[in-house]
Order: sequence, then C-alpha cells, then structure tokens
Amino acid sequence: MPAPDPRNRVVEDIRARLDRPIVLIGLMGCGKTRIGRLLAEALGLPFADSDDEIEKAAGMAVADIFDRFGEAYFRDGEKRVIQRLLDGGAQVIATGGGAVMTSGTAEAVWNDTISIWIRAEIPVMIERTGRTDRRPLLRNGDPERILKDLAEKRYPVYAKADITVDSHNGPVDSILNQALEALRDYLYGECA
Ligand code: S3P
Repeated sequence: MPAPDPRNRVVEDIRARLDRPIVLIGLMGCGKTRIGRLLAEALGLPFADSDDEIEKAAGMAVADIFDRFGEAYFRDGEKRVIQRLLDGGAQVIATGGGAVMTSGTAEAVWNDTISIWIRAEIPVMIERTGRTDRRPLLRNGDPERILKDLAEKRYPVYAKADITVDSHNGPVDSILNQALEALRDYLYGECA
C-alpha cells in the first residue's frame, strides 16, 4: 500500500477551517501568481489574479491604464476589483504589489482575509521582472533601485500579513509546502 501523502492531511485540515479568502501580497516578481495558482490547485479552490481582473474589466493592459489615466485611477479600479473578489468567499487571490498600500484595500485585506506575504530576495525579483516589460513602475529608472526603494517603503506594511512565506528559486514544491503548513498552523493556532 502506498504511504499516505502528508500533504493530503494538511489540505484536509485547511479546508475544514477555511472560511475566507487567502490573499497573497508582496513585491513585483516575488511569485504571488505562480504560488497562488499552485496553492489554489492544491486546496481545490478558485484562483484569481487582481491585475488580470482589472485588465478584463478595463479592456486594457495595466501598463496602458497607468499611461493613459495615471496611477491614482488604477488604484481606484484595483480597490473595487479586490473588494469584489473578496466578496466571493474562500478562494486564493494574488494581488498587485501596491494593493495593500491603498487605504480601503489594506483594511479589507487585513480584516477579511488570511494574508500571506510572499517574500523574495531583491536579485530574484530583478531577474523575474526583467523578463517582461509589463510593469509600469519599473520603466522609469533602474529597476534594482526602484525595487529597493519600494521594499523599504512597503516591507513594514507587508509585515502585517498573517503569514510570511519565503519564495526562492529552488523547487516550487517546497515553497508550496511551506505555505500549506503555515496556513494550517495559522488556522489551528488562531482557534486554540
Ligand atoms: C504594482 C504591481 C503590479 C501591478 C502594477 C503596480 C505595484 O503587480 O499591479 O504594475 O505597485 O507594485 P505585480 O505585483 O503582480 O507585478
């Protein structure tokens, strides 16, 4: 008989207690979308990416929204889209890196979800974000400097997350297991 997969037990435990969305936060390129998808798949939950939802609602790319209407307009749309997603109950939501820097969005995430900060080293994020040109905030200047400045401003806020998971370039399975175990501990510790 094959040995039982210990991950199944963790997943069952999480599903038994989960009553609200899981929201992934963190800087651009930290792996929110990739880990969020895997987490949703492992838990058998729907997955949504707030940037994708904004693009669908606006009918244009995030970079074009920034160019044509500015960041404040984008943040407003982001707040509405995230609020709508949060109303959908238990699911996994990856948010854009600046989402919890906007009041309204921040309170909703802290109060109504289990938040997970996906934390990666700056060189990892530079390498990952360098693969595309779709991040407006990294277009005007040195991406390394910009990411470091954003980290300085945002990390104290990201640190309010319920859970922190380290995202590295190693096997994604180990990051996923780290996230699942931390979620289980959080959900059970919370009710102890
Ligand atoms: C932003 C991050 C992006 C996107 C927009 C602004 C930010 O999302 O929402 O370009 O302020 O950090 P990702 O974190 O998914 O790249």
